[in-house]
Amino acid sequence: MARTPLLFQPISFRGVTARNRIAVSPMCQYSASDGVPNDWHIQHLGARAMGGAGIVFTEASAVSAVARITPNDLGLYNDTQQAAYARLAALITLGGAVPGIQIAHAGRKGSCTRPWEGDRYIPVAEGGWQSEGPTEQGFSETKDPEPHALTPAEIGTVAAQFAGTARRALAAGFKIAEIHAAHGYLLHSFLSPISNTRSDAYGGDVRGRARMLMEVLDAVRAVWPTELPLFVRLSCSDFIPGGLTPDGDILTIARMIAARGDVDLIDCSAGGISPEQKIPSLHPGYQVPFAEIIRREAGIATGAVGLIEQPTHAAEIIANERADIVLLARAVLADPAWPLRAARRLGVEVDLPGPYGRATVHE
Ligand SMILES: Cc1cc2nc3c(=O)[nH]c(=O)nc-3n(C[C@H](O)[C@H](O)[C@H](O)COP(=O)(O)O)c2cc1C
Repeated sequence: MARTPLLFQPISFRGVTARNRIAVSPMCQYSASDGVPNDWHIQHLGARAMGGAGIVFTEASAVSAVARITPNDLGLYNDTQQAAYARLAALITLGGAVPGIQIAHAGRKGSCTRPWEGDRYIPVAEGGWQSEGPTEQGFSETKDPEPHALTPAEIGTVAAQFAGTARRALAAGFKIAEIHAAHGYLLHSFLSPISNTRSDAYGGDVRGRARMLMEVLDAVRAVWPTELPLFVRLSCSDFIPGGLTPDGDILTIARMIAARGDVDLIDCSAGGISPEQKIPSLHPGYQVPFAEIIRREAGIATGAVGLIEQPTHAAEIIANERADIVLLARAVLADPAWPLRAARRLGVEVDLPGPYGRATVHE
């Protein structure tokens, strides 16, 4: 029998093993009230765990109410939310996947309506909140015109909030924590010279701009056990002149992360820092080279994400060691059983749970 493609071989990070190297990428559902997971999230994440992925990530989970992008985001900062998150972790585990949580702060892109409601700033007077960033420079005309510039003491508070969410995620049963430092949200806005023009210890050169991320990682690792993996999602390119590039500051940051020895994978995404960004070409796997460069040059495991839709493409990325896992969003949003269909296409036998044993999987 042909050897099982590496894509469908198990992979371990610390004490956690996933059944294959396909992860459901974090995807906001904008369907919560007060940050609490409900039937929508149960159905959404449960279906994708049953669909055969190795790892299923929750959407960006806010570390506080003002860390949400919209009033309908998930958050994990109180006991009610924690109890509902425990149900999500149990359900993902029941489906045979490793439950992962993405921990996030929206920064200056917070207090907005949902994408299908225009993605517009909700002023404080209309029930929104003042967003937070490295400076008082807003993201765009349709976002908070004047975010609050975090003081060093407030940066410490936010780092502690990341740790608080990690502690709750652990108690809820999550096995992988991913820190969201991409897509223009708070941690990315500190990393990028486009948005971070501070002159204190949290700005300036790449070490200064990376200080907040490093302090967040310190705080999270202090509560997230050694036997559980920690991932970081980075925007590897700002797609804008003067911004972050994969072979410039991002490589330095990736090397700083790798040198810590307590982060297990960099999830290599891109973009989101400015409405002025210009993505040179949107083609299948357009972000894979970022995962490849960082894996090779920084010596740390990477995740590839972005327009990976064909099983043979996903298999090729892993077989050629361009990344260690692939993360899928839109393809698996359309088809929760994408991993099962990919297995079928690649000639891999998958052990289905008893009740699903008679399922016929078509390509
Ligand atoms: C509906 C939707 C919600 C998303 N929410 C998040 C999120 O919460 N956190 C995040 O890091 N990326 C988020 N993304 C980005 C995806 O995780 C992924 O990086 C991106 O869609 C590219 O992958 P794809 O081509 O497979 O869709 C979202 C994407 C979609 C389509």
